[in-house]
Amino acid sequence: PPATDPQPRRTGVRTGTRAAIAAPHLRTDRWWLAPAATAAGLLAFVVYSTWRALSNADYYAAPYVSPFYSPCLAENCEPMRGGPNWELFGSWWGLSPAILILVFPLGFRLTCYYYRKAYYRGFWASPPACAVAEPHRKYTGETRFPLVLQNVHRYFFYAALLVALVLTYDTVLAFRDEHYAWGHMGLGTVVFLVNIALIWAYTVSCHSCRHIVGGKLKHFSRHPVRYRMWQWVGRLNARHMQLAWASLVSVAVADLYVYLVASGAFDDPRFF
Ligand code: FES
Repeated sequence: PPATDPQPRRTGVRTGTRAAIAAPHLRTDRWWLAPAATAAGLLAFVVYSTWRALSNADYYAAPYVSPFYSPCLAENCEPMRGGPNWELFGSWWGLSPAILILVFPLGFRLTCYYYRKAYYRGFWASPPACAVAEPHRKYTGETRFPLVLQNVHRYFFYAALLVALVLTYDTVLAFRDEHYAWGHMGLGTVVFLVNIALIWAYTVSCHSCRHIVGGKLKHFSRHPVRYRMWQWVGRLNARHMQLAWASLVSVAVADLYVYLVASGAFDDPRFF
């Protein structure tokens, strides 16, 4: 500020239009619990998924393929009979094939409106909670690089649709036995069914999906089908946070299940 300015100009929560309260906040409840639990949950998933994605092993136990490795796009993939195993990347690719595909679901979740709120609060304390001032001096929101890139979320939504279709295909293949005969069902099939239901519910409840389905319309009365679909998506959208967590857990459980069966920890119980 200029030297003659009696009051230094401030931005963010310290702006002059805010109430001049000395205390950092006036909340007396355990407001830190939610961001701490969020950070712990997200961190646990990041550690687990990084370990599994880089391990490049135990991701296929016929007929189940781990959702972290599907579709498998490299020549070094384990052969999966009938599974989505397309060798777009030749023998030059020596790293884990999971890295090729995880960028899409990861990008979808990283740019998700709910997860943004979760990790801005949990990791950056920006802000830590409602009515608790953030510790940062400046606030530019998502108007500058790199956070302005969060706007690509809609395009990750389209990629996530493709990934959900592939995981649906994997779930259909889970109705085979270990000899690839159809008409069987094991505990793994149930795990995959629950996972794909939650993955679809989370994907369809996306805010971008809601806008694609019902946005930019002047008259709902002239678009009854889109109006009906928008209502359905809106109902799911109201549960977006819960679906984000439920599908995050279910995808990790589906992967863990494949890992346990593939590594020989236990046999997949078969119901019929
Ligand atoms: Fe969360 Fe799109 S807003 S997935």
